[in-house]
Amino acid sequence: MKSIAQLLFVALFALAPAMAAPRDAATPTTPATHPPGAAIASGHALATDAGLQILREGGNAFDAAVAVSSTLSVVEPISSGLGGGGFFLLHDAKTGQDVFIDARETAPAAATQAEYLLDNGDFNRDRAMNGPWSAGIPGLPAAFVHLAEKYGKLPLKTTLAPAIRIASEGFPVYARMARGYAARRDVMDRYPGTRAVYLAGGKPIAEGDIFRQPDLAHTLELLADKGFDGFYRGETAGKLLKGVNDEGGKWTAAELAGYQVRERAPIVFDYDGWKITTAPPPSSGGIALAEMLQILEPWDLARLDPTHRTHLVVEAMRRAYRDRTFYLGDPDFVQIPQRTLTSRDYAAGLRATINPDKATPSDMLSGKQTPMEDDETTHFSIIDADGNRVAATQTVNLLYGSGLIPPGTGVLLNDEMDDFALKPGTPNAFGVMGFDANAPEPGKRMLSSMTPTFMESDDKVAVLGTPGGSRIITMVLLGILGYDDGLSAQQVAALPRYHHQWMPDLIDAETDAFTPEVVEGLRAMGHAVKVPGEEAGDDGRRSSHVWGNMQTVEWDKATDTLSGGTDPRNPVGAAKVELSSPRR
Ligand code: GLY
Repeated sequence: MKSIAQLLFVALFALAPAMAAPRDAATPTTPATHPPGAAIASGHALATDAGLQILREGGNAFDAAVAVSSTLSVVEPISSGLGGGGFFLLHDAKTGQDVFIDARETAPAAATQAEYLLDNGDFNRDRAMNGPWSAGIPGLPAAFVHLAEKYGKLPLKTTLAPAIRIASEGFPVYARMARGYAARRDVMDRYPGTRAVYLAGGKPIAEGDIFRQPDLAHTLELLADKGFDGFYRGETAGKLLKGVNDEGGKWTAAELAGYQVRERAPIVFDYDGWKITTAPPPSSGGIALAEMLQILEPWDLARLDPTHRTHLVVEAMRRAYRDRTFYLGDPDFVQIPQRTLTSRDYAAGLRATINPDKATPSDMLSGKQTPMEDDETTHFSIIDADGNRVAATQTVNLLYGSGLIPPGTGVLLNDEMDDFALKPGTPNAFGVMGFDANAPEPGKRMLSSMTPTFMESDDKVAVLGTPGGSRIITMVLLGILGYDDGLSAQQVAALPRYHHQWMPDLIDAETDAFTPEVVEGLRAMGHAVKVPGEEAGDDGRRSSHVWGNMQTVEWDKATDTLSGGTDPRNPVGAAKVELSSPRR
């Protein structure tokens, strides 16, 4: 790891100090064996508080994960929910094992590629992104059951209680939620079940309103009482099927009852003294991170000027996203050359193709130009006092998912089908393409970019992740590089961001990511750079000014300190540290 003194660009990002909680005034001389308390960072303070409450009631990090995840499902319907899916990366301190819980949605059998074509053969984007055909079979409720039965100490009745209470009593609508609703209202107004929730009393939701979801509270209660069958069979399943099929979709009872979470081995590799543990397929994140970081490892990035540092990072991004397009999909359905793609030799081969002073045009790596749009999803990070960890990213895909709530359920269904290559070579809402590896098939999981990740060195543990569609992976990459540079959790969450995804062949940058000199330097190397305030890029679009919502926690074993970082781009997020009491 590079020392703080080596940092060239930390000074550019002088950020709010991370919250920190040292156990004692005296710094221990040997690394601590367990954390001095717990830390949780999530996209909404009510969810962070729900997790801390469950820890106080005797739960572990996995129980807290159920509480945080279910509460986010209630208070962030814009981003994730029971009608969607997610990935949970777990570290069990007692066994030392890491496991990846894949609760990604699955394709209904009726959802073949032909269903997403218009009569003239063009892609039916509306069907892919809105309404019943855009939704996969939800996975998140099954994840709660799995976590509770296999890893937790408390029953779902306890861990779902905060979510049930908040769904029933309501919470204040915040600006992003109201803004997202305004953006999606034309779709959400199509469906009577959605209108009943979002136009309750005949008036659209607005910032500051108290938003109550009694049907969702009831659905959560059934899940708490009956477990898997409380959602995937019986009353809730019946309402979900009716709601989808009444709107012209084709789900079956067998598909709901047959949903299963998968336990998968995480991707693990070393980077600059850190052990990185991260998301395997059907996430594309872990393989891409392994490729990018192993390409970059021999370079001492902290010693480079910002232009050359950015150039090399972008060239690594370009190559990893090219491979994402062609090779990655659901490992239960396609053969992924994972060993090759994550090997150091492969990374060395890719590194050799990088000119240190000149951009590689993406079309020299083959492919077509594609557009890019906005994103949603959410992430939370937990460390408990025993050293158990959870990194979880969950989603309904785009803002408010499909926009469809089957009447009486309160469950806003996802529009995750758009993450499949529904028309081969046609970019999805995130501008990423796919081919056969990510074609829909009955029961198959669509490729994801969600990348919940652990970093461990001899004296530090960090848990990190973020929403952001195809940009998730590059945000996690920059977060890892930030921790490696010695930044605090809060500085990592706030880091300015840039992104390259092979196609379109351009660097997309946040407002503060680059100085004018760096932009000029990158352009002189042959990079197209899209920065806010400048003319639209080649694809005719303006870049967004900011993106992502990183939530991260860190345990510094050398100083026995816990800290959290919450993304300042999201004013309702919260990272909190709670010391054990009495001290252990
Ligand atoms: N729906 C965004 C992702 O899974 O990558």
